[in-house]
Amino acid sequence: MHYPLYRPRRLRKSEEFRRMIRETRLSVDDLVSPLFVVPGKNVKKPISSMPGNFQMSTDFIVEEVRKIKGLGIPAVLLFGIPDSKDESASGAFAKDGIIQTAVAEIKNAVPDIIVITDVCLCEYTSHGHCGMIRGTEVDNDPSIDILAETGLSHAVAGADMVAPSAMMDGQVFAIRKALDQNGYAGTPIMAYSAKYASCFYGPFREAAESAPQFGDRKTYQMDPPNSNEAMREIALDIEEGADIIMVKPALPYLDVIQRAKDMFDLPVAAYNVSGEFSMIKAAAKLGWIDGDRAMMEAVTAIKRAGADIIITYFAPEIARFLQDQ
Ligand code: PBG
Repeated sequence: MHYPLYRPRRLRKSEEFRRMIRETRLSVDDLVSPLFVVPGKNVKKPISSMPGNFQMSTDFIVEEVRKIKGLGIPAVLLFGIPDSKDESASGAFAKDGIIQTAVAEIKNAVPDIIVITDVCLCEYTSHGHCGMIRGTEVDNDPSIDILAETGLSHAVAGADMVAPSAMMDGQVFAIRKALDQNGYAGTPIMAYSAKYASCFYGPFREAAESAPQFGDRKTYQMDPPNSNEAMREIALDIEEGADIIMVKPALPYLDVIQRAKDMFDLPVAAYNVSGEFSMIKAAAKLGWIDGDRAMMEAVTAIKRAGADIIITYFAPEIARFLQDQ
């Protein structure tokens, strides 16, 4: 036989055919839009390494959340950058802390959007680590007590879901227990279960002013070459009470997303992190790639790998792109 019997090209010959057999469709429903909140009023400071993203005071954040809701995006994820930091991360669980204030104002102004809060200490500690320091070590068990207090304070302020990202052992259980014992049994936990010690968080650390002042995060975040260990981390978080499991970053870890989706039946979130966003923005700015196409291709790949929820700084742009189509 000289010629092929089956010709896959037959079904690629027009956009209509391609549309008909397309296996993965990105939807605005899949998206979560991250935001950076700072104290004060009338602050909207561009984050140079993340074009189109800003540190904003709550007045601007409320406007932004209105826009995000208007685009049909179901959820935002909040990161707080406090005025002052200390050894014990006291700003993380303060009643009038940056996140607690922002959540209350957002829920008051735009009630029907899901407000998720990142529960971590690195933005609030003077040393920039995600937990309490003893000597030169990040001390697990005192850290999970503070994380539990922080998560609970977010729920009290009105957060619809809390997302622990400190990678301390037992953090999900500690937060679940604090929520349950205080009347927030109905507040779900989206666990950053498989969070890797990644260089792709670089731009975020500028945005959140959260770079560690000494050492690195390799004793608590996962070692990038590991995949079995990610399944173990996820299984633990599910036992501890996670409602949604997360893999982070997304693009360099599509295999981990796919395994997580295959092995577990909980919704899988993937975090398309700052460095993944900034690389595309930078290459597009240089004219080396088509920014819109790269954005859609990258984020669609995250969904194809198995993500049900995609946290991405592209969320508003994707929503507009999908609307225009
Ligand atoms: C907090 C946290 C980080 C990110 C999300 N939550 C930074 C880090 O662990 O250093 C990174 C998000 C991004 O890069 O977009 N621990």
